[in-house]
Amino acid sequence: MTYNPQIPEWGEKYLEKNKEKLVTYHQWLSTTGVKAGLISPKKDQEIWDEFIVHSLYFYKTIEELGFKEKPLFDLGTGGGIPGIPISIASKAKSVLIDNKKSRIYELERIIKILQIKNATAEERNALEVLKKEKGALFTLRCYLSTSRLIEEVQKTLNKNTYLISSKEKNRFKTNEMFHVKQEKFLINKNDYRFIDVITVM
Ligand SMILES: C[S@@+](CC[C@H](N)C(=O)[O-])C[C@H]1O[C@@H](n2cnc3c(N)ncnc32)[C@H](O)[C@@H]1O
Repeated sequence: MTYNPQIPEWGEKYLEKNKEKLVTYHQWLSTTGVKAGLISPKKDQEIWDEFIVHSLYFYKTIEELGFKEKPLFDLGTGGGIPGIPISIASKAKSVLIDNKKSRIYELERIIKILQIKNATAEERNALEVLKKEKGALFTLRCYLSTSRLIEEVQKTLNKNTYLISSKEKNRFKTNEMFHVKQEKFLINKNDYRFIDVITVM
């Protein structure tokens, strides 16, 4: 099926530098990814826009926070979203975490195919990782809701930064414990998505 590996203006520089690997990853997601149940069947264009473009906005936010050298934990990564596109665009270490062995096995294979030197996949319970790490950077896409993440983080209040996919109406407010900034961005000409950037104060 044909599709357009597009990106809105905000992401042109990420796509330009990394197009070959991102297109290979798209191909893998739309074949192996669907067969292995990492993603549900979707049109090629949707896989590109929803997974690749969406993931690259996580990286844009990481750069803007001044964290492009900081190691990253991608929790509930599934088929490597957003962790794989981020680790293609970035030079920093990325740890892709999922508690399903079969997903880790597939991720290890795609990391080898794409020759991504800065990424590893680990079978771990993400909730344990959240409790343990301090001063770390986390991404979460379609794994926990913002309110569920806040519940978990309140148990330890480790000074971490969390980038989490969200919905506009779920907007969480900054308070004495958390600084919250919501990013709204286009994934193609018409569709917007949201990421909450949460910092423990
Ligand atoms: C809905 S999928 C989202 C996958 C991917 N981030 C995406 O955006 O397509 C949620 C993933 O979280 C993983 N998961 C669920 N509970 C987990 C836990 N406690 N620790 C680690 N991974 C978990 C599941 O195995 C699944 O791959």
